[in-house]
Amino acid sequence: MLKRLNLKRLYAVKAKTLDNIQKAFCLTKADLQNIIRSFHAEMERGLSGKISRLRMIPTYVARPTGNERGKFIALDLGGTNFRILALKLRGNGRTLPPHVMKFALQKRQITGTGDDLFDFIAGCIKAFMKRQNIQLFEECELGFTFSFPVRQTALASGQLVCWTKGFSAKGVVGKDVVGLLRRALIKRALRNVKIIALTNDTVGTLVAGSYSDRRCDVGVIIGTGTNACYPEKASKIRKMPANPIGNREIIINIEWGNFNNLKKTRYDKLLDASSHNPREQILEKMVSGMYLGEITRLVLADLEKQGILFSTPCSIPGSRLAFRTEHMSAIESDEAPHFYATLRILRGLGVRYSLPDDRKLVSEVCRAVSKRAARISAAAITAVVLKMDAGLKKAHVIAIDGSVYEKHPTFKDDMKEAFQELTGEKASRIRMVLTKDGSGKGAAIIAAVAYASQEAK
Ligand code: BGC
Repeated sequence: MLKRLNLKRLYAVKAKTLDNIQKAFCLTKADLQNIIRSFHAEMERGLSGKISRLRMIPTYVARPTGNERGKFIALDLGGTNFRILALKLRGNGRTLPPHVMKFALQKRQITGTGDDLFDFIAGCIKAFMKRQNIQLFEECELGFTFSFPVRQTALASGQLVCWTKGFSAKGVVGKDVVGLLRRALIKRALRNVKIIALTNDTVGTLVAGSYSDRRCDVGVIIGTGTNACYPEKASKIRKMPANPIGNREIIINIEWGNFNNLKKTRYDKLLDASSHNPREQILEKMVSGMYLGEITRLVLADLEKQGILFSTPCSIPGSRLAFRTEHMSAIESDEAPHFYATLRILRGLGVRYSLPDDRKLVSEVCRAVSKRAARISAAAITAVVLKMDAGLKKAHVIAIDGSVYEKHPTFKDDMKEAFQELTGEKASRIRMVLTKDGSGKGAAIIAAVAYASQEAK
């Protein structure tokens, strides 16, 4: 009898604790509307050159016409893997399938010195040229996607403002990253490679999307990191004294990962305090693949400490980043009542014994964390769309890429549900299109635009 009573109590405590966690991670419609309001205020401040959490970086790029042609090389660096590709543009919004080579960065390049990083990249470009049979006397134009906050000073130059996503290579912050790459290319005798455009992955994604669809006007990445861009009327970018590219629109790299006006749980605060960049990139820490697993791990470790999860002695791994966002996707796709996939994942992480009930709780925690991420992303996209079109009078195509968006089982649907809550029946005017590998393709297209304008001079 006593045992039954205790069990009953334990279930009640479990239910109450889960309820509290769900409440802490829940964002109501009013919360999302607040995010949009605050986003608009920060966007305005950023555009007028005032201090803002949103950097609103003018990129010296406008959307392409779709008629650009030629063969261009792109280097796409933004995470631990990077790619080099050759893309042939055929005009009429069409491209041939790109030739791609992938490379993995090691710790030495990510956290060593800038020379380690750029020398390694130049070596990989050399290998790519060899594979592509490009001779050293053949001039080739390269678009460089560098997916970190960069203060762009011209189409092909910009200084790194700060590293994100765990990168910390020394001697790069404050430097022109194109200059650093050029120097490394020269050391490898690759004088024939001309870096003619520098861009961000969101801008590449928007440009790749709009090359074939003119209605495309937002580029978004929800992967290891997160960010977005959109075309802004040149007259509204008040911090830019004159429009340097003479176009009526300039794509703005919002750098939304640094948005901060969000309700934080104590787990968010813990994660931030132990991160390599405390108080920075708060939205990114609630949304992107680099951090979602870790927030979940912090919650689970806390539940275990409170005696609510796992009744036998075992332990959610104490080490940072052991629980990954991919685990969440697998756990949230797992099937009740046994949750066997979750069982396997937990075993792999060293939790040898768990009850189906424990696994259900793990799944519900994952759900609370990922749903919040999807709703924040949807509110941020809505803010960007409404900034361009306050009455949501026309259709907007959002070119979107990134592992979290692509692979998480409920992320897209959670986002769509939030669009519906925020904009009612007009939600159908916000259409997200997965633009796979747009960041690299877009860099090649931007190189094509830059090349055409050089030729015209
Ligand atoms: C960077 C952005 C990038 C985003 C997605 C963020 O950490 O600051 O520049 O676009 O990650 O890769």
